[in-house]
Amino acid sequence: MKPRVRKSWLLLHVITSVGWLGVTIGMLVLALAAFDAPQLYQAMSLLGDLVVLPLALTALATGVVLSLGTKWGLVKYRWVLVKFVLTVIAVIATTFSLRSGLHEAAAGAVATAGPDVLVACCVSLTLYTFNTVLSVFKPWGRTRWG
Ligand code: HEM
Repeated sequence: MKPRVRKSWLLLHVITSVGWLGVTIGMLVLALAAFDAPQLYQAMSLLGDLVVLPLALTALATGVVLSLGTKWGLVKYRWVLVKFVLTVIAVIATTFSLRSGLHEAAAGAVATAGPDVLVACCVSLTLYTFNTVLSVFKPWGRTRWG
């Protein structure tokens, strides 16, 4: 990848992946407030479908492009491989579990779906923060394939 092309992909990657982390902080605040104001689940469902999901998919896609297009590779360095696995799990959990929990809560099943949504927000936030730390420190060296 030419430097300018790499930087453009990196820019898109950082905006979407750290944006995903940012909107998750907002979702956590809303998930707490929604126990007293269940109408907030409507807003959270919208955010889940129209903001969180597109950010998640773009963060994953740009991460894969950057890995394959640079010296890092997808499986050559432990920090990239761990980020990749964690993000795939997070995208699947967001697509199927978080969004369905939000839709259920928005439809009135607050008692069952509300706590699940809160836990999902806490786990996601921890994971994206961990991914950001991995991205900046790039620890643990190469894998056997590197
Ligand atoms: C929540 C998910 C993610 C977050 C928060 C995140 C965050 C970041 C950040 C902040 C950087 C910039 C680091 C720097 O320039 O020093 C970065 C770079 C990078 N990320 Fe991610 N990332 C995520 C997911 C992924 C995934 C899934 C992959 C691979 C499949 C990936 C691969 C990379 C690579 C290879 C770079 C370095 C690009 C370069 O310097 O050329 N990331 N990431």
